[in-house]
Amino acid sequence: MSETAGRTVVVATVLCGFCSVLVAGAVMVLKPKQDINKELDFKKNILQSAGLMNAGTDIEEAFKQVEPIVVDLSTGDIAQGVDVSKFNQDKADKNPEYVEQLDKKEDVAGIKRRSKLQKVYLVKKEGHIDQIVLHVYGKGLWSTMKGFLALDKDGNTVKGFNYYSHGETPGLGGEVDNPKWIGQWPGKKMFDAENDFKPMTRVMKGGVNLSNPQAAYQIDGLSGATLTSVGVEHTFNFWMSDMGYGKFLTKIRNGEIQ
Ligand SMILES: Cc1cc2nc3c(=O)[nH]c(=O)nc-3n(C[C@H](O)[C@H](O)[C@H](O)COP(=O)(O)O)c2cc1C
Repeated sequence: MSETAGRTVVVATVLCGFCSVLVAGAVMVLKPKQDINKELDFKKNILQSAGLMNAGTDIEEAFKQVEPIVVDLSTGDIAQGVDVSKFNQDKADKNPEYVEQLDKKEDVAGIKRRSKLQKVYLVKKEGHIDQIVLHVYGKGLWSTMKGFLALDKDGNTVKGFNYYSHGETPGLGGEVDNPKWIGQWPGKKMFDAENDFKPMTRVMKGGVNLSNPQAAYQIDGLSGATLTSVGVEHTFNFWMSDMGYGKFLTKIRNGEIQ
């Protein structure tokens, strides 16, 4: 190797080493800040679904009225022996002790498996449950769409809903995060109280006819995005069923969980 080629290799190696140290250092320094921002964003989405997020809202302050609990979906009870402050939903979603594979008939939302332990957020007012915020997710056309659904203390009436993550096409399925479409959800009912609290959500191609007696369960379909719309309907009907939060919401309605 000539002297010049040797020097080039040395300079390139030193430069590469220096740059990797710089990048690794930046990652280490920024990681705690990124984690804090991620946590704040998560809380913001929960507050938003419950209608508690306005311009200027202090997220940490507003979140003081939210009490996280961990629910065992198989019984509908608050999970025993689980420390909610240490519970990590992402880890639970991979823990074979909690994960249940869903067979084809059960897997309405196209998620293949789900943890029987789910973190739920109770919005409390003067010590009593005012709203229940539930994490819901299911397959759209291109992606798993993830959101938070806030229900009134009656365990049936929607207070608010938002998708915080999806990969549907902007302008088509991506309209699931359009505030106008989202604005239809408050006031809708999840269950038919006259019919054993059967999950009833329907996303209507062509739009909801408000004079239809079933309109309380219906949401406008997204034009040019029937497959995403069907995904939304299936997501709700899965999570409101006994494979989802059905048993827990029955206990809320019966006053067994306060
Ligand atoms: C580039 C491209 C992106 C699309 N994105 C979506 C989508 O995000 N959601 C969806 O349901 N359909 C999407 N579609 C349309 C579907 O392929 C399908 O035609 C549609 O769901 C049928 O809905 P319609 O009966 O309302 O037209 C897309 C189509 C194309 C060509």
